[in-house]
Amino acid sequence: MHIFQRIDEARSFCSRARSGGTDIGFVPTMGAFHEGHISLIRSCREENETVMVSIFVNPAQFGPDEDFVAYPRDLDYDAGLCREMGVDAVFAPSVAEMYPTPQTLSLDFGGLTSDLEGRHRPGHFAGVGLVIAKLFNVVGACRAYFGDKDWQQLAVVRRLTAELAFPVEVLGCETVRDSDGLALSSRNAYLSATERQSALGLYRSLRVGSDKIESGERSRDAVEEAMALVLAEVKGLSPDYAVVRDAATLMPVDFLSGDLRLLVAANVGGTRLIDNLGARADRPPPLSTLGEGVRA
Ligand code: PAJ
Repeated sequence: MHIFQRIDEARSFCSRARSGGTDIGFVPTMGAFHEGHISLIRSCREENETVMVSIFVNPAQFGPDEDFVAYPRDLDYDAGLCREMGVDAVFAPSVAEMYPTPQTLSLDFGGLTSDLEGRHRPGHFAGVGLVIAKLFNVVGACRAYFGDKDWQQLAVVRRLTAELAFPVEVLGCETVRDSDGLALSSRNAYLSATERQSALGLYRSLRVGSDKIESGERSRDAVEEAMALVLAEVKGLSPDYAVVRDAATLMPVDFLSGDLRLLVAANVGGTRLIDNLGARADRPPPLSTLGEGVRA
């Protein structure tokens, strides 16, 4: 397995692979691997001849008060896992390699990032967009794998790819959870045992919301209230948002229909956690949810 630190090495490796006729699968990460990352790498390995994984903790996507310095890093461990999984090349550049001069370019995703994580983390998605654009320019034509876990990020990457015409097929992969439902995240490492219990409230809230939609509820307010109630009942958890949105645009929908995404964010101790779940609301609501009079 190759480990490249330089852009030109990684770029020529990918060009050579492509000119040899093989397709490239790419998994961008910030390292500190858990089963979520591993599932992306596994799908990528199954579906592509050449597999490239990037490991880069991207300073441009961290706010000044965020955990850039404390973010867990263990390149040897991560590279070892890559080797075991049959990855062909790891790209692990330094900050100086990726950002040799101060960046002047700034990406703005408009309404797609003015709310939810974008509201809470100003500049975050501009930083994600910048690094992904740069990585896509290094790797070139490929299939790129991202987790559904970061749903707004996935929407940003799809928008970036479409609007800048990157020759990249973006694939979303299902969120990997612990057996109790907690979505795996590198930041779970910050949680104490008690905080981890409180963190389970996020998934519970999503399940309550999606069950309501599945059983015919079509009022956004009713679903969001039910989700908020679950979060409010958990000690040690301070909720940020609990919403239902259109799955593709992330815009609010008054009457729930089509492909929806339920999204929650909360702080547990000093750790901010996010999670989301899909739901489908077909029109009209199932007969079983209509009143007796209507059914007759
Ligand atoms: P990172 O947090 O390391 O995540 C890398 C990829 O793993 C992302 O696509 C993320 O959505 C996915 N992932 C994280 N937890 C997951 C889980 N429980 N199940 C499935 N997939 C999961 O996201 C980033 O890095 C960065 O923002 C990056 C895209 C690399 C840009 O710097």
